[in-house]
Order: sequence, then C-alpha cells, then structure tokens
Amino acid sequence: MEINETELICLAKDAREHSYAPYSHFKVGAALLADDGRIYTGCNVENASFGATNCAERTAFFKAVSEGVHSFRAIAIVGAPDGTDTKDTCAPCGICRQVMREFCESKDFMVILEDGKGGTLAMTLEELLPRSFGGESFAHCH
Ligand code: THU
Repeated sequence: MEINETELICLAKDAREHSYAPYSHFKVGAALLADDGRIYTGCNVENASFGATNCAERTAFFKAVSEGVHSFRAIAIVGAPDGTDTKDTCAPCGICRQVMREFCESKDFMVILEDGKGGTLAMTLEELLPRSFGGESFAHCH
C-alpha cells in the first residue's frame, strides 16, 4: 500500500490540536496507518503526576490495539511548543519506539517526521531502534 506522507502529517497536525499539555506546553500529534488502510490518531495526554503522561504515538497505538488492530504500515509524528507551528523534526521517544517495536515486526514500518523545511523525513523503525528487544526472546520460556 502506498503511504501518503503528506496526508498522514496533516492528520497528525489535526490530532495535535487535542493535545493536553498544561505542564510541558509541548504539543504532539500522531497518525498511525494500519495495514488495512485505517488511520488512528493520537495526542499527548499529560498528568500532574508527570510519569502518568502518555505520548501521542502511544495514544494512537493503544487506540488501534484496543480495537483489535495489530498490523501497521507507518506513523507520522509532529510536535512543537504550544503556540508554535510544527516544522522541526519531533523524534519519537525511546518508550514509544519500544511500543512500536511490539506491534511492527516488519522491518519496513515507516516513521514519518517533518524535516524543518516544509517537507517530510521518512525512516524505518529498524533505523530508529536497531538491535531491539522483542517478544521472540521469550520463545523458549514456558
Ligand atoms: N511527547 C510525545 O508525545 N511523544 C514523544 O515521542 C516525545 C514526547 C510528549 C510527552 C510530553 O507530554 C511532552 O511531549 C514533553 O515531553
């Protein structure tokens, strides 16, 4: 399936409008494309107990997984301080990379970011999280 990077970035920007970020004032949006063509969006949801905060990417993944969807093609991520336009690259945090790794075993799952110049930057999850840890390591424990 063709990935429309511009459309996914646009949907991530729309989702960012719902960001709840009263503490960091850093608003993030994500749009996750499933293999079947459906798109799940997410935003960061902060909490006064900071560790309870959920990133935009994980919100999108958990929405999809909670609806029974487990195979994915790509995710677009945009983020910037409140009041500023997204433009610069907002890379996914380490925890979100690991969550993507759980559900995106295919090495060609794409992460799409903005490039700071009005265009997009696309890379594989494998590039962002090389030599990663996954469920296959449990294969021999019962
Ligand atoms: N954030 C995300 O939503 N995704 C990331 O990958 C990086 C960080 C959010 C979490 C927090 O609400 C704010 O950005 C500042 O860290």
